[in-house]
Amino acid sequence: MIRIENVGKSFGGFRALDGLSLHAGEGTVLGLLGPNGSGKTTTVKILTTLLSPDSGEARVAGYSVRTAPDMVRRNLGLSGQYAAVDEKLTAFENLHMVGRLYGMNRRTASARAKELLSNFRLTDVAHKRSGTFSGGMRRRLDLAGAIVARPKVVVLDEPTTGLDPRGRLDTWDVVSRMVSEGTTVLLTTQYLEEADRLADNIAVINHGKVIAEGTATELKQRAGSERIRVVMRHAADLTAAATVLDNAAGQGVRPELDRQDHSVSIAAPDGHRTLVRVLSDLDARALPVEEASLRRPSLDDVFLTLTGHTTGPSSPEPEKEAVSA
Ligand SMILES: Nc1ncnc2c1ncn2[C@@H]1O[C@H](COP(=O)(O)OP(=O)(O)O)[C@@H](O)[C@H]1O
Ligand SMILES: [Mg+2]
Repeated sequence: MIRIENVGKSFGGFRALDGLSLHAGEGTVLGLLGPNGSGKTTTVKILTTLLSPDSGEARVAGYSVRTAPDMVRRNLGLSGQYAAVDEKLTAFENLHMVGRLYGMNRRTASARAKELLSNFRLTDVAHKRSGTFSGGMRRRLDLAGAIVARPKVVVLDEPTTGLDPRGRLDTWDVVSRMVSEGTTVLLTTQYLEEADRLADNIAVINHGKVIAEGTATELKQRAGSERIRVVMRHAADLTAAATVLDNAAGQGVRPELDRQDHSVSIAAPDGHRTLVRVLSDLDARALPVEEASLRRPSLDDVFLTLTGHTTGPSSPEPEKEAVSA
């Protein structure tokens, strides 16, 4: 349903997309995960024919954005990074108008608007001006607008950025509902949890390029192994503890130190065995441990492993410094 092949796009001398390729099969959700400025919106604009690529090809439902932009638009619904609703119109009027713009007659447009208002839990406010809506309600209305004409493909650009937790959960519900009705979704996000929860496949992008792709599980496996975290009783023991972890893991991976919570952590291929060794080595060196744990990698770890930094807003990390022992 979505095929992007080797797309390049520059703004002046700046290469925003650098040979980007993405694919999504019918009825699946492709999560495009990347930090600010990585090229997510540029990708969305190319796929939705709002920008043309300098090189490469993008197709929606088999139609090329270059040679058949009208057909691309006919098969596609877009909810942009900033919710686009007409604030002077009511929720009903907004959706009704979209239906009419897509060529529906009054009755069909009205029926579709009512159906969507109900699906998106907006019936109670159907006749209120959308200018008075909260961010979450506005976003729901915008998402509803994107699927009025039952497009095969829906593109959502950071649909939950700026929403409160309730608004985010609501939006996730709505996206799941779209997918269960067979819609193919391309969803961009900075939130690892969102990609984890909604996407069948995830493409991680950075500097306009896909740097990893796969299911959330596959990506987590790539982030290495389980992670060991040890909280030391004394901050003064942190550096010595880091050396112990480093030797036990034996992968040349750098342990991460967090002075605020007295912790040292490291990815270890053979988690259980490594943890046992770490604890016994710390004990042998009389370095008292407050807490020790083993956990499977999260998408945050994936991102950190791949890009060397976290995505930002989703994961406010305490200050960390890497140490080489
Ligand atoms: N119209 C434009 N003119 C110049 N630079 C742009 C333009 N649009 C995007 N960029 C640059 O391209 C990069 C990718 O932008 P964008 O696709 O919006 O990233 P994202 O949506 O992932 O935050 C950014 O560095 C941005 O500043
Ligand atoms: Mg963007």
